[in-house]
Amino acid sequence: MTAAIIDGKAIAATLRGKVAGEVARLKRDHGVTPGLAVVLVGNDPASEVYVRSKSKAVVEAGMAPCDFKLPATASEQEVLALVARLNADPAVSGILVQLPLPPQIDSQKVIAAIDPMKDVDGFHPVNVGRLSIGLPALAPCTPTGCVMLAKSARSSLAGLEAVVIGRSNIVGKPVAQLLLAENATVTIAHSKTRDLPDLCRRADILIAAIGKPELVRGDWLKPGATVIDVGINRVAGEGGKSKIVGDVAFDEARNVAGAITPVPGGVGPMTIACLLLNTVRAACALNKLQAPSV
Ligand code: GUN
Repeated sequence: MTAAIIDGKAIAATLRGKVAGEVARLKRDHGVTPGLAVVLVGNDPASEVYVRSKSKAVVEAGMAPCDFKLPATASEQEVLALVARLNADPAVSGILVQLPLPPQIDSQKVIAAIDPMKDVDGFHPVNVGRLSIGLPALAPCTPTGCVMLAKSARSSLAGLEAVVIGRSNIVGKPVAQLLLAENATVTIAHSKTRDLPDLCRRADILIAAIGKPELVRGDWLKPGATVIDVGINRVAGEGGKSKIVGDVAFDEARNVAGAITPVPGGVGPMTIACLLLNTVRAACALNKLQAPSV
């Protein structure tokens, strides 16, 4: 079998187009311009790249960007004071504090200080709790993108066996909640799981989010499985150059899976598209307007 390639870039572009349409509608009909505040503390190169691409996407969607850069030496108090100011600013619909934060700052304290209605990352305990009990919530962006990609390959996930490898608060746990909400039967695997290959062979849907280059081999997969690869790992390539690979050995997996996301061009583009969607959702909720239809 040769797997269908799930084109995250194309699916994200379609979603971004819909979000831009919603932004235009909000401006035209309600005089509301959604605004996303992105806070970067320090100068981690990967975070700088992410933050730049987020801000570019915000502008392309017709929203108002609002970027803050604090030095790596910023105190927790300074970050909390900025969050308080953004919570109170009516022009700001969404707040994203880029992680990781420098060690002197308690990330959980900062996340908990964000107004849950502006928590477009979906990391605030209120949104985590609402998601887990099935109430409307701002859900984390990468997990939302993963489920959208899985649903592009399988119209319904109901009754399917889903295995999530990884239990992070950013991807593993929330993607498991979203899959459960789609009525999948969900197992979360992690570093202490016994016989991971055997567990993976049960999966109709496999989500790999462990950050280990090409850990998942072709013979770990059930024939026809839908494979969503969240990994972004830089490894040595040919000629001394580095290259990016996922958590799944793509060339092996594509001969067994029914559908698979490439790296890059799979989950990555969906994260930003879902962030834009969350920002529009937050703007609607804050202004007591109907949620977008996407
Ligand atoms: N760092 C890596 N991924 C994320 C994310 O989704 N949100 C934030 N705020 N920081 C991150």
